[in-house]
Amino acid sequence: MSMKNRFRGKDFLTLMDFTPVEIDFILRTAADFKRKLARKEPHEYLRGRTIAMLFEKPSTRTRFSFQAAAAHLGAYTFFAMPQQLQLSRGEPIKDTARIIDRYCDALVIRTFGQEVVEEYAEYMVNPVINALTDLTHPCQGLADLLTIREHKGRFRGLKLAYVGDLWNVCQTLMVVSSLMGIDMYIARPKGYEPAEEILKFAEEHAEERGSQIVLTTDLEEAVRGADVVYANTFHSMGGPELEKEKRIRDFAPYQINSEVLSLAKEDVIFMHCLPGYRGEEMTDEVIEGPHSVVFDQGENRMHTEKAVLALFVP
Ligand code: CP
Ligand code: NVA
Repeated sequence: MSMKNRFRGKDFLTLMDFTPVEIDFILRTAADFKRKLARKEPHEYLRGRTIAMLFEKPSTRTRFSFQAAAAHLGAYTFFAMPQQLQLSRGEPIKDTARIIDRYCDALVIRTFGQEVVEEYAEYMVNPVINALTDLTHPCQGLADLLTIREHKGRFRGLKLAYVGDLWNVCQTLMVVSSLMGIDMYIARPKGYEPAEEILKFAEEHAEERGSQIVLTTDLEEAVRGADVVYANTFHSMGGPELEKEKRIRDFAPYQINSEVLSLAKEDVIFMHCLPGYRGEEMTDEVIEGPHSVVFDQGENRMHTEKAVLALFVP
């Protein structure tokens, strides 16, 4: 089967389900779409298709980037939050899933537990696309890789330093770093750990690729000589935000400010999945500074999601 047809009809639930070669193909497809858009070349490969979007948490980037990508592809999107649906009155997921499946060619879903996206996938024939769960944010992971490659030209051997909570975005970066051969250093206060299944996956794959995933309490160790410095909130939507004040206190020594960033390589890029909280995980000077690529990164959400839609929607 050609690489192009390998994804058709499949679910996109976590990047742990894909090989480095497959991820590379999705990235190349995204880069191709980015060029097409810049040249104003039409690419309505999904003309008339219908895509349901069900979001249980707020979103700016994921929502609009999927909707823009789908529009460029000629597809229609229908957006709803669960409280607007009969789900809020107790209709089971398995019934909701089978009904959406009869109307729509794909479901893009943002929710809490990974088991929720898995349940939709079980009851739908058409693809389910994970638009963020507590465990992982695979769409973010693709955009991050595309951005890194655009700025650094490669993955293998790069050093990425991460600060932020050890939740979906951190866990996705662990997965993609280990698959693509990036050395990832996570600086965090004692007592905060990623999900065990992610750590196990990342350690095993990093070893295969000759890279490393390092958890440290020492911010300087993480940032010194880094090619990429990546910040994320200390209090993600869902669980972590319930202990927001405590987390802001615990993570305060891990802020990326200009002094910290100066420990990295001279041509370091500063990344952030956004939304960002100035004065917490980074200073205004850093996010607005010359190393910051956060808006290129945000833009790349649209190009990578377009690739996912074009490749996965049957
Ligand atoms: N980075 C990201 O997923 O942003 P939104 O929550 O705005 O979608
Ligand atoms: N880790 C953040 C990412 C938001 C896109 C959260 O889950 O809130």
